[in-house]
Amino acid sequence: MQAVVAVEHGPPSALQLQELPEPVAGEGRTAIRVVSAGVNFSDVLTISGRYPGPPLPFVPGIEVAGNALDDGRPVIALLESGGYAEVATANARMVFDADGLDLERAGGYALVTLAAYFGLRYAARLQRGESVLVLAGAGGLGSAAIQVARALGAARVVAVASSERKREIALAQGADEALPYGEQLPPTDLVVDGVGGEAFGQAYRATRRLGRVLLVGASSGTPPALPAFQELRERGVGLVPFSFKALRESDGEFVARTAPQALDLIRSGEVRPLLGSSHPLADAPTVLAALAGRDTVGKQLLRTGR
Ligand SMILES: NC(=O)c1ccc[n+]([C@@H]2O[C@H](COP(=O)([O-])OP(=O)(O)OC[C@H]3O[C@@H](n4cnc5c(N)ncnc54)[C@H](OP(=O)(O)O)[C@@H]3O)[C@@H](O)[C@H]2O)c1
Repeated sequence: MQAVVAVEHGPPSALQLQELPEPVAGEGRTAIRVVSAGVNFSDVLTISGRYPGPPLPFVPGIEVAGNALDDGRPVIALLESGGYAEVATANARMVFDADGLDLERAGGYALVTLAAYFGLRYAARLQRGESVLVLAGAGGLGSAAIQVARALGAARVVAVASSERKREIALAQGADEALPYGEQLPPTDLVVDGVGGEAFGQAYRATRRLGRVLLVGASSGTPPALPAFQELRERGVGLVPFSFKALRESDGEFVARTAPQALDLIRSGEVRPLLGSSHPLADAPTVLAALAGRDTVGKQLLRTGR
């Protein structure tokens, strides 16, 4: 099969397209003939060695859509790695029914929709009627967070994004308002921060007393500078660090049981994951470089052509 391989840690340009033997699903795992694979910011970090990943050489990619090899049923799956390939294997518990979903697009559905759902609902405990501020609101996770916040009953959603085009896209995802970084932000109950750096500081300062900041990542390259205890105590703002990967690994049973609720939001049309563009596997280096370079909107997909 064809697969994209990280042979060394480095920039996306170091990735190689190789012919590899198809992986075999062991006990408790499902082999999937991949139709589309989602590209995530964490793939950039794993490939560069800045984020823990499998030992080298490895095939990146943590989400796919395709057909189970054993019976052909359409599935979406979350993986530990291996998604940028024609065949991937997943823990059977993290394989979900994709009946009625377009497999050409569904490779980009699961990770951001589920991370937004579990993060907003179970980590930050979003209440109906609250206001939500989403940083990088035109990105993969950001666009999903806007839509999921709406679906969970947020009264008002404000997005922050770096360009006029991205702000228009965030509005089209259901944000009521879209602002550039650095502008005065409105007081907010709950912030979704996947950017970190100075953007975290601005968003934290705009968070209302008894509000929460959901810390999901640091795409700026600078982790959020967390205020000291006394400052947090006096402001009364909760910092809620969240990793969907860690939740899957520590409580897979809960994730497996609850994920279908979130995926049903896609089936019902309440959440329509924003897909930026789809590319052949061989284009993985270009797509990842664009994602790392802030040059994408929504989810990027790799397709196998099957
Ligand atoms: N915790 C979890 O479970 C979880 C799950 C999924 C993703 N994440 C995190 O969420 C964040 C977004 O992930 P994603 O895959 O959906 O990526 P993405 O948002 O599609 O792309 C990253 C975005 O970050 C913003 N950004 C700000 N400063 C940047 C910089 N210096 N370089 C590059 N981008 C910069 C850009 O939007 P603007 O130009 O509008 O600023 C860019 O489009 C990442 O931090 C990722 O690790 C966390």
